[in-house]
Order: sequence, then structure tokens, then C-alpha cells
Amino acid sequence: MIFDNRLIFPPINHPRRILDCGCGGGNWAVEVAERYPSTQVIGVDISPHLQPLDLPDNLWLQIDDLNRSFTFPSRHFDLVHSRLVASGINRSRWTSYIRDLVRVTKRGGWVQMIELNYNTQSDNGSLTDQHALREWSRRYIRSLEDLKDLRIGSRLGSLMTAAGLVEVDTTMIQLPLSAWARDSRTRQIGASNRPNVHQLLESVALYPFTQRLHMPEEDFWDLISRARAEADDLSLKAYFPL
Ligand SMILES: C[S@@+](CC[C@H](N)C(=O)[O-])C[C@H]1O[C@@H](n2cnc3c(N)ncnc32)[C@H](O)[C@@H]1O
Repeated sequence: MIFDNRLIFPPINHPRRILDCGCGGGNWAVEVAERYPSTQVIGVDISPHLQPLDLPDNLWLQIDDLNRSFTFPSRHFDLVHSRLVASGINRSRWTSYIRDLVRVTKRGGWVQMIELNYNTQSDNGSLTDQHALREWSRRYIRSLEDLKDLRIGSRLGSLMTAAGLVEVDTTMIQLPLSAWARDSRTRQIGASNRPNVHQLLESVALYPFTQRLHMPEEDFWDLISRARAEADDLSLKAYFPL
């Protein structure tokens, strides 16, 4: 919905090979493989547990660690896609990760990257540092700071340029946490995103908050329930930058 049903942003007509890095449950890779049946699509993920059982014939899923140098041949793929892997890519790996993405992309090919910035925002000034959502963001980013860069989204463009790409285009989109927007399309995106947000606030934070920041479980659940209520508060107009 956010991308108006577009899977691929750059102008590619007949891609021969596409790579999806950190493909997870394969949502994007499966849809791309179905929409381009004569394209070879390869998805890579570190986890074997998410793979769908029913794969299109032109999609191959591989288990590998993106924090290690790529073994694909150079100039191999027409499009290399990397979406929502910031919590998996090591902070020190980003420069070489993007260099690897570029190395395996054909000349004239494209690299498409999407990351969520976990720093919750609001443009109407109502979300302050005292809010649970901001506390959640601060703690989440800090809890993994030594390992991961959860604000990498805003640096992707400059890293791509530094890795030798040209025609680099970047956009920041507001991903609303609930249905607060005036226009019906964005309001619908917020409504659909609401259950994701409720899950994400808990699931991505449980381990780092309780095990890395040593937050007592009772305080953890109190913070999550306050953050969820604020995400639902339409007057706060909270969003994650995407
Ligand atoms: C939030 S999911 C995103 C999945 C998919 N890209 C999407 O947008 O629907 C992050 C995925 O990255 C994978 N991942 C995290 N660290 C990784 C690593 N070092 N190597 C390969 N995959 C990794 C996880 O297993 C998970 O499937």
C-alpha cells in the first residue's frame, strides 16, 4: 500500500536476475517471481525457519549470512534488493555490505534499499521526550548501539554514492503508527499498520531491553503498554520514518 503496489522502483523492463537480501518470509521475492516469471530470483536469509513451502519455479532461497562477504559473481544481477535488514547488519559492515551489493549488480543495473528508522516522530510537536514512544525508541536504539545502526536509513543514499552508484535517489516516507492521517489512503495505511506496531514494539524489544539493558520485566511491560496506547492516540500523529 505504501508503495502503491510497486515492487520495483527503478526503470527495469526485462530483468534476467534479481537478488533479494534478507528475504525473510519471501513476501517481496515471491511476488516479484510471480510478476516476472522469466526472471531468475534468488533470496538470501540467515534463517531457515521463515521460508514459505510453496515457491514459484523461478525463485531459489539460500541460507547465508549477509554480514559475510558475498560469494556471488560480480555484475550478475539486474536488480539487488535489500529491505528492513538494519537489525541484522552489523554496524561495521554497512560500507562493505553496500559495496558487495554494488559489486554483484550489473552495469546499468539497480540497487533498491528500504530501511525503517526506529526513532518515532511527530510533526505537530506533541510527541515529547517524556512520551513512552520516545523512551522506547531511545532505549531500542541504545540497546543495540554497539552492534547495529538502527538509524542507517538516513545514510543509505550517501553510502550508495560512496560505493560508486550514480543516479542515487532517496525518499523519506512517513509510516503512520495508526489511523491518524486526514487523507484516506494514508489513514488506511495507518490502520493496517496498527497491529504490526503493537507486535513490533514488544517483539523486537523484549530481548534487548530485558537482557542487554537489564530492564525488569514489569517495567518492560509497563513501557510497552504505554507506548501502544500512544501509538493509538490519533492526536499524537506518530510515525516511523521509512
Ligand atoms: C524484518 S525482516 C525483513 C524481511 C524482508 N526483507 C521483508 O522486507 O519483508 C529481516 C530479515 O533479515 C534477516 N536477517 C537478519 N540478519 C541477517 C543476516 N546477517 N544475514 C541474512 N539475513 C539476515 C532476518 O532473518 C529476517 O528474515
